[in-house]
Amino acid sequence: MPTVTLNTGATMPQLGFGVFQIPAEETEQAVTDAIKAGYRLIDTAASYGNEEAVGRGIAASGVPREELFITSKLWIQRRGEEGAREAITTSLQKLGLDYLDLYLIHQPFGDYYGEWRALEQAHKDGRLRAIGVSNFASDRLVDLIAFADVVPAVNQMETNPFHQQVDYQELLHAEGVQLEAWAPFAEGKNDLFTNPVLTEIGDAHGKSVAQVVLRWLVQRGVVVVSKSVKPERMQQNLDVLDFELTDEQMAKIAELEAGESLFFSHVDPDMVRWLTGRAES
Ligand SMILES: NC(=O)c1ccc[n+]([C@@H]2O[C@H](COP(=O)([O-])OP(=O)(O)OC[C@H]3O[C@@H](n4cnc5c(N)ncnc54)[C@H](OP(=O)(O)O)[C@@H]3O)[C@@H](O)[C@H]2O)c1
Repeated sequence: MPTVTLNTGATMPQLGFGVFQIPAEETEQAVTDAIKAGYRLIDTAASYGNEEAVGRGIAASGVPREELFITSKLWIQRRGEEGAREAITTSLQKLGLDYLDLYLIHQPFGDYYGEWRALEQAHKDGRLRAIGVSNFASDRLVDLIAFADVVPAVNQMETNPFHQQVDYQELLHAEGVQLEAWAPFAEGKNDLFTNPVLTEIGDAHGKSVAQVVLRWLVQRGVVVVSKSVKPERMQQNLDVLDFELTDEQMAKIAELEAGESLFFSHVDPDMVRWLTGRAES
């Protein structure tokens, strides 16, 4: 398993398993299957509603805690530093863990400066081995770094062949922040799994489109979390280390950039209203 070194000095596996949109009652089995397939990085969030099931899957796997890299995320809430402190404790309790390898502020809305102070304290206490953010555009990230004590270790962003984050990855690198990809397959949007360019490249290596996408991200030095509830796909999505994309193939994938999110814009006021409306009470 390739790894990256975070600005904390810790190593993080480059290929991980995400549990967004896996119903709680299916999550324990999915996590057990994923760990059995070889995943060591598991990505959940308070807002996914399945942290307890993730915790049961981890416990059932029998894999020692120190071999796993567990991430969860703080959802938008209206209680700043104090609320974040409580949310960290709640996530740890639900997961049945005494520390997280990485904890992210899920969305760049609300009092995330106050929340960041709570994350920094829990990082100093050792309960959060690394802290980071998700969905932070470059201006908000640089601003946070300018006023924070601890530089985020990771920014988890939508990153896939149609929304590649190439320039942003350079900026993150310069700031010492690791790019982590969410929705590497764009959840199948834009007919990703039958894209002719990706299919042709996959055929040349005897690999699937999904494997081409994951290999492309690994070669770019991006950490990636993908999701599947099917054990054979979980395995397929790890089997990307025995081939290499050529410079020409990397260049062809670069041409698929569409210039915008396939999901939503974090600077669209209607979307901000909708997301912040989902804030925890
Ligand atoms: N920070 C954030 O705001 C944020 C947002 C979204 C996601 N995430 C994280 O990123 C993770 C991954 O993103 P995602 O779940 O949204 O989407 P994704 O990984 O891009 O796509 C998942 C979809 O791809 C299918 N799939 C997986 N492997 C496949 C394969 N080898 N061949 C064909 N189809 C395949 C899955 O179907 P089956 O399950 O039926 O196989 C599922 O429908 C999430 O689980 C979550 O941890 C974070």
